[in-house]
This record gives sequence, structure tokens and C-alpha cells, in this order.
Amino acid sequence: MNIVLLGAPGAGKGTQAAKLVEEFATPHISTGDMLRAAVKAGTPLGKKAKSYMDAGELVPDDVIIGLVTERLQDADTEKGFILDGFPRTSAQAVALDAELSKLGRPLDAALLVDVDPEVIVKRLTSRRMCRDCNYIGTAADETCPKCGGEMYQRDDDNEATVRNRLDVYEKSTAPLIDYYRGCDLLVSIDGDRDPNVVYADVKKALGL
Ligand code: AP5
Ligand code: ZN
Repeated sequence: MNIVLLGAPGAGKGTQAAKLVEEFATPHISTGDMLRAAVKAGTPLGKKAKSYMDAGELVPDDVIIGLVTERLQDADTEKGFILDGFPRTSAQAVALDAELSKLGRPLDAALLVDVDPEVIVKRLTSRRMCRDCNYIGTAADETCPKCGGEMYQRDDDNEATVRNRLDVYEKSTAPLIDYYRGCDLLVSIDGDRDPNVVYADVKKALGL
């Protein structure tokens, strides 16, 4: 399975990716998780990315394309991959196509998780994540139900930044829906239902 997860911030891409990883052990390539790990480790990449992320703006294309291209060289991705949060601009989509055609590993599908923006503002301002295993939960989770780790709120999950992320999505990323429709790869799922119901549709859409 070589897939791209598309959708607004908070649509549930990470939640659905986690279910696919649990069931199929497909490598999960989340550019957001990779960037947050770099910020936490204080690497040059993390230092460069932090101000963009805190403002809800996109990290420059060349940085992100380099990061993903490098990850796709790892042998584990030969059996498949779930790209989550990438591509986010036309330049990233074109670079991904070029890299995958070089590797001879074309995409099977671009899966759009579709959710109304006002639902998203509520979801993201109450999201909490595990510091140790990246489990995605809500304010109701006092500790991580998976590993017992500490739950925290992402710096970019405040309402003003969430609204900016939604604007950036509309302007820079939503055009990719047409791009993938044009390549006959787009599958769209209603993401505003119970996560397990959404997951059943995800599997159906991917023929799993
Ligand atoms: P990133 O980490 O990719 O953030 P995002 O796209 O904004 O997506 P999220 O992780 O916020 O949401 P999600 O769709 O995964 O939803 P989730 O499953 O967590 O990026 C962060 C930043 O990094 C960017 O702003 C940018 O600066 C930078 N960046 C990353 N990639 C980049 C790129 N390619 N180019 C440039 N810059 C890049 O769910 C959200 C909440 O809803 C959770 O609380 C969850 O429990 C809940 N939920 C999920 N599904 C459901 C459901 N069906 N019903 C009810 N609640 C649900
Ligand atoms: Zn955890």
C-alpha cells in the first residue's frame, strides 16, 4: 500500500494512519511528527522549522522535500508507506511524483479525510498527544491509554493558530484534491463520524 493521506489539519489523518499501522504495520511517514521530533531534539532542522510551525505556516518546500525523499530511501518503505501531512503544496506533489517514479513505486491512492472546518476547530483545541509514543487523544485522556506517558497540548493547537492553519490549508493544500483527482487517485471519505466507522470506509476505499 503506497498512499497519501490528504485532509485539513485535525481531519483525523493521524488517527486513521495509527489504525492502519496497527493492523498492517505499514511504515507511517508523518512530516509533522518528524518535524516535532527534530524540534524536541534541538537539531538544525528543528530550529529552522519551529517558528513556522508555531505560527501555523508551512515549513519551506525544499526542507520538507529533502526530509521525505531521504526517508523514502529507507528499505522498510519498499513494502509500502503511508504519507501523512505530505504533500501539502503543488511543488511537494510534483517532487513526490518524480521521486516515486525514480524508485518505481507509484502511488495506489490519495485518500481525502473530509471534515467541516468548525468541527475541526473544536477537535484541535481539545486534542492532547502523548509525549512518549505520539498517541493522539483528547482532553479527556489524563495519561496516555497506550503507554501511560504524559499527555500534552501541541503549541499550534490554540484557536488562533488553528484558524491560520485552516486558511493555509485552503490556499496551499486543498488544490491537491483536484491534482489527485486528475491522476485518478483520489478517494474521499466522510471523516465526521466515529473513528472506527471512518476506518471501515478507509479500508473499503483502499480495497483492504
Ligand atoms: P501536522 O502535524 O501534519 O499537522 P496537521 O496537518 O495540522 O494535522 P494534525 O496532526 O493537526 O491533524 P490530523 O488530521 O492528523 O488529525 P488527528 O488524527 O490528530 O503539521 C504540523 C505543522 O508542521 C504544520 O502546520 C507545518 O508547519 C509543518 N508541516 C508538516 N508537514 C508539512 C509539509 N508537508 N510542508 C510544510 N510544512 C509542514 O485528530 C485531531 C483530533 O481529532 C484528535 O484529538 C483526535 O482524537 C480527534 N479525532 C480524530 N478523528 C476523529 C473522529 N472521526 N471523530 C471525532 N474526533 C476525532
Ligand atoms: Zn503513549
